[in-house]
Amino acid sequence: MKTIVLYESKYGAARTYAKILSQKTGADLAELSGTKAGTLGAYDAVLLCGGVYAGKIAGLKFFRKHASLLREKRAAVFAVGLSPADEATLAALRRANMTDRLADVPLFYGRGAWKHGSLSAGDRFLCRLLHGMLRNKAPEAYEEAWMPAFMNCYGKDCDLTDENYLNPVIGWVNGQ
Ligand SMILES: Cc1cc2nc3c(=O)[nH]c(=O)nc-3n(C[C@H](O)[C@H](O)[C@H](O)COP(=O)(O)O)c2cc1C
Repeated sequence: MKTIVLYESKYGAARTYAKILSQKTGADLAELSGTKAGTLGAYDAVLLCGGVYAGKIAGLKFFRKHASLLREKRAAVFAVGLSPADEATLAALRRANMTDRLADVPLFYGRGAWKHGSLSAGDRFLCRLLHGMLRNKAPEAYEEAWMPAFMNCYGKDCDLTDENYLNPVIGWVNGQ
């Protein structure tokens, strides 16, 4: 079974998970931008590791566009965000992302990292606005699961990554 791990990562956590996956399973590794659909022809299984930004998993546009090609293969997604790693987060990510042609694609999840100093100007601006809005709210009133972690991490560097999140994905790559 020949597998490729594709990743789309703004701040590095999804890339790091993808690299570890590739090392632990022997799968090939490639950044999604710069990967042509034709490349997938050589593989039996495709796994996407994508960061989560404003509820959306990065890289799914490619998966959606090439859904018919991926249907002939094993395909799965590993999403990386600040939200807690629990069933509620998985269900919310699935509702917002894994619709229509992606409804049957397995979804895995692991927590990512927050590097305040590395934020792009656009993200920094957005996050400053969000922080200002949440500052005066009670945590019980936060609308999104990632907001408590966001408020804890805002203004500093925060690493919530853990290789153990990859265990179910490694099982998937190994066909279990
Ligand atoms: C602009 C922005 C929006 C984000 N939105 C979410 C979100 O909706 N849900 C979530 O769990 N994490 C969210 N995060 C946290 C990222 O998912 C987290 O930093 C993750 O590590 C990103 O992956 P990357 O390090 O590979 O870029 C957001 C981060 C930024 C900068």
